Amino acid sequence: LLSAVAATALVTGATGAMAACDDGEIVIKFSHVTNTDKHPKGIAASLLEQRVNDEMNGKACLEVFPNSTLYNDDQVLEALLNGDVQLAAPSLSKFEQFTKQFRIFDLPFMFKNIDAVDAFQNSETGQAMKESMTRRGLLGLAFWHNGMKQMSANKALVNPTDAAGLKFRVQNSEVLKAQMAALGGSPQPMAFSEVYGALQTGVVDGQENTWSNIYGKKFFEVQDGITETNHGVIDYMLVTSTDFWDSLPEEVGTQLATIITEVTATRNSESFTVNQAARKSVIDAGGVVRELDADQRAAWVETMKPVWEQFVGDVGQDNIDAAQKING
Ligand code: LMR
Repeated sequence: LLSAVAATALVTGATGAMAACDDGEIVIKFSHVTNTDKHPKGIAASLLEQRVNDEMNGKACLEVFPNSTLYNDDQVLEALLNGDVQLAAPSLSKFEQFTKQFRIFDLPFMFKNIDAVDAFQNSETGQAMKESMTRRGLLGLAFWHNGMKQMSANKALVNPTDAAGLKFRVQNSEVLKAQMAALGGSPQPMAFSEVYGALQTGVVDGQENTWSNIYGKKFFEVQDGITETNHGVIDYMLVTSTDFWDSLPEEVGTQLATIITEVTATRNSESFTVNQAARKSVIDAGGVVRELDADQRAAWVETMKPVWEQFVGDVGQDNIDAAQKING
C-alpha cells in the first residue's frame, strides 16, 4: 500500500510539482552536493538527466538538484527513504553508518589510485556492497568515481608534523576523524556546503578533498596551498530507495538500469582526466600546489597508515588483503 501511495505521488500530473515533466511521467529527483561542470559527479548526473529525458520521454522525467540546493549529505538518505527524492550519490564515507565495511574506502593509503578503487568495486565484495543496505531500504545502483584526495591548510603542509595542532574539516566518518587525530590534528565533521565559509573565517584551518571539489568550491582561494598527497579516495554510490525501485514498471526499471550502467562506464573512465583538469585550473587561478618527494610521502604514510589497525575488525582483513593485492 505504501509503495502504491508513493508511486501515485510521483506522477507529476497529480502534484503539478515539476513544470519540466509531462503528465503521467514517473518523476525522478536527484539531489547532490557538488557543482555541475568540471566535476566527475556533476557531469555524470547531468548526462544521466539528459539521457533519461531524451530516451524515456513520456515514461520518466529526471531532474538534478546540484550544489546542496535541496539536501546536504546528512539529510539526503533520509529524504530518499521518505520518497522526497529518488536518486542521490553521496560519497562512500556517508554510508559507514549503514555498513561498516564501507570504512575500507576511507582508510588512508588503502588504494594507490582510482583504477585500484575501480577494480575493488568490481570484485565480488565490492558488488555485494551495493545491495548491503536493502534491509534499511536503500539500494546501490552503481559506484561513481571522483578521485584521490589532497590535503590543504592555511599554512604549508610538507611534512605530516606540519598538520599537528590544526583543525581539519572532515566528512562525518569515524575513519577520517581517526586519520586527522593520527596527524595530531583536530577533526571537525561538517557538511560540504559549509566548508568554504569555515575555511574563510578560520573555523577550521584545513581540509582534504579531490581536485574537482577543491576547484569546484574554490577552497584553494582560502588556503595557503594544496599538498598532493593522494592519501585517500572520494567515490560515490548512486543510490535509490528499494520502495521506489520496486514501484517501477519492469520495462522502466530495465531501461533506467541500462542507461545508468552506460553513463557509469562513460563517465568513470573520464574521472581521472576531469580531476587533472581541475588541478590545472587551480594552478591557473593562482592556487599553490605542493608535490611531495619520496621521503616526505613516506612520512605521511608512516603517520597515517596505523589507523588501519583500529578498523580491521570493521572492514575485514581479507578485504584489506584483496585491496592490497589489487595495488600490486
Ligand atoms: C565532501 O563532503 O567533501 C564530499 O563528499 C562532497 C562530494 O560529494 O564530493
